[in-house]
Amino acid sequence: MKNPLPHPVFSGADCWNELQAFLETKRPKVSKIFILCDTNTAQHCLPILLENCPWIVDPEVIEVASGEANKSPELMIQLWETMMAYEADRQSLLLNLGGGIVTDMGGFLAATFLRGLPFIQIPTSLLGMADAAIGGKTGLNVGLAKNMVGSFTWPSALVVDPVFLETLPNEEFLSGTAEMLKHGWVLDRNHFLGVQELLAGTHANPGALIVQSIRIKAAVVESDFTESGFRMVLNAGHTIGHALESHAYHTGKPLPHGFAVVAGLLCEAYIAHEYFGLHDRDLQVLQEIVLQYYPPIDFESSEIDAILKWMHKDKKRNIKEWRVPLPQKIGNAELQIIADEALFKYALIRYLKLFKP
Ligand SMILES: NC(=O)c1ccc[n+]([C@@H]2O[C@H](COP(=O)([O-])OP(=O)(O)OC[C@H]3O[C@@H](n4cnc5c(N)ncnc54)[C@H](O)[C@@H]3O)[C@@H](O)[C@H]2O)c1
Ligand SMILES: [Zn+2]
Repeated sequence: MKNPLPHPVFSGADCWNELQAFLETKRPKVSKIFILCDTNTAQHCLPILLENCPWIVDPEVIEVASGEANKSPELMIQLWETMMAYEADRQSLLLNLGGGIVTDMGGFLAATFLRGLPFIQIPTSLLGMADAAIGGKTGLNVGLAKNMVGSFTWPSALVVDPVFLETLPNEEFLSGTAEMLKHGWVLDRNHFLGVQELLAGTHANPGALIVQSIRIKAAVVESDFTESGFRMVLNAGHTIGHALESHAYHTGKPLPHGFAVVAGLLCEAYIAHEYFGLHDRDLQVLQEIVLQYYPPIDFESSEIDAILKWMHKDKKRNIKEWRVPLPQKIGNAELQIIADEALFKYALIRYLKLFKP
């Protein structure tokens, strides 16, 4: 499949040399290299990057604290000021080295500083490689409202090197596989089966599987860059998943995003099975994956109404009906309109019964 993204993706064994060759062709020439990382990627990933790229000489390294709370306007002001202090100009190049938080923030920094600097996304988490760094969305949280401010801005290039995954905590690895499973679940059965092998530790080439996820997401983004229609297929698992994530966060039991997404995928699969013709066998496959690899989400039936309340909030809109991508068989989802909240309640009860029969 050809690369549907409007920028190169360097992902093979030679990715760092390819990046160097690409930058040498750039005009005007890069004046200075900035590297944005968080505390963890500064420790684990920066040495790998610098070892692979001896041509990066005297970079300005900007290190931020890790964690979602730092994806904030307050930190962005500090980043703008740091760029000013280092006298960044329009020929400066920003390398975003980190998980989705760093690539979201760094993308926004590059989109806004001096009205736009070139930047390269170098995701280091699985979620970043397979999802967050793909598709040109950048953003910040405002208070508790996630991704309230942002832009659609393409990087100059994307580099995907699975070597970074060697130091990624297992929980973060599992969280990333959830988004990859989602890509397969809605759009590509073979990919779904490949991610199942990745979870089992039997996949021969995880790097190729990540690139396949990138291609699936990129093809959707290409057909709907500003998310007016088909891109919503990537929201699979997120209608219920976001509600579970918000509820968990506000009750003091925060969850890795992917854990909520996987639970959301299964809940939405219950709806697809009961009301939209999802095949029994396909539901079973997903259910077994969830049981085998992901911890159950901790909530009681008495909390379901509180979870449902979160489903009415999306950014500033109050939602009365939902467009949910539901497959009839794995790899083949269509957007369905659900106007009856009772379907979600049914799904959450069925999910609870799976773990507390
Ligand atoms: N822009 C988009 O389209 C898009 C899509 C999906 C998610 N996102 C955003 O992505 C963010 C989540 O991304 P994430 O899950 O990568 O979170 P993250 O950036 O917080 O990374 C997860 C954790 O792993 C650490 N880490 C990352 N790479 C590491 C490595 N190689 N070795 C050791 N530790 C490492 C990080 O420091 C962090 O503690 C959210 O803010 C979400 O909104 C954006
Ligand atoms: Zn997600």
